[in-house]
Amino acid sequence: MLAEAQIQDFIKNGYVHLHGAFDCSPGSIAHRWVQDTWKRNGIDEHDRSTWPVGKIHMPSTEIIPAKEISPLAVEAIRELCGGKDRIDGDNIRWSNGFIANYGMGRDQEWQAPSPSVKGWHKDGDFFKHFLDSPEQALLTIIVFSDIDPHGGGTFIAPDSIRHVAEFLRDRPEGFSPFDFSEAGLIEKCEHFVEATAKAGDVILMHPYMLHASSFNHSEKARFIINPCCSFKEPMCFHRTDGSDYSPVERAVLHALSVEYLDFHITSERERIVPPRLKHQAELLEKEKERAGT
Ligand SMILES: [Fe+2]
Repeated sequence: MLAEAQIQDFIKNGYVHLHGAFDCSPGSIAHRWVQDTWKRNGIDEHDRSTWPVGKIHMPSTEIIPAKEISPLAVEAIRELCGGKDRIDGDNIRWSNGFIANYGMGRDQEWQAPSPSVKGWHKDGDFFKHFLDSPEQALLTIIVFSDIDPHGGGTFIAPDSIRHVAEFLRDRPEGFSPFDFSEAGLIEKCEHFVEATAKAGDVILMHPYMLHASSFNHSEKARFIINPCCSFKEPMCFHRTDGSDYSPVERAVLHALSVEYLDFHITSERERIVPPRLKHQAELLEKEKERAGT
């Protein structure tokens, strides 16, 4: 599905932008999900005074197989992860749990992407991170609304992949997902991108990509989801059985400037229950109250 140039670009820069990967037109599931947000969040689409100056991380009330919305994106995810033996495409699910940015920072001066922007992080708040962690195979941005410049497009730092790779290579004991912001990694980065897009686009990024929310100074609300997908097994950076490295693994080897790496964890893998789940359960209760159910 992906052209060789796209795969090479992913290995070097850590992301692939798929344009028009799914239908957002009236009558589509995606369109209905977006229309539902106004009532779900108690906001009047046509009255800006009801729009919050911030984001809402909405809970999911509908979850469906991603292949029902975008078979193309699922195929691209499989390719980047090394094929169906390494990732179960049937288990990739997308939902209406939007990160809705109604105007975060619209009361403040625009901030261009740089280390001084707050909130840079690596995704995966539900597990202890190792260089080869299987839990977060890709960072994905599924775009449900047009995102113009200064319209809340996620900030990404493509050269962060190298710094995260070096950091985790040197920590075989693992690292807490909540401590990446304080690890001084974003300060080492020099390349930043504001991820603008159209409704129906999908941006697939390396799981090490540091990223941050940006201010939405546009007239539009921004709706995206960041669904996680996982490898079946930990990544492998020294395949002695002749099997191919996935593009995700090749990006790590490229970032570390090595052809292979013998990496072994020195503590147990751990699952973590993230605080966001409690917050989303509270939001779901509020939605039910509004709907009278
Ligand atoms: Fe994130």
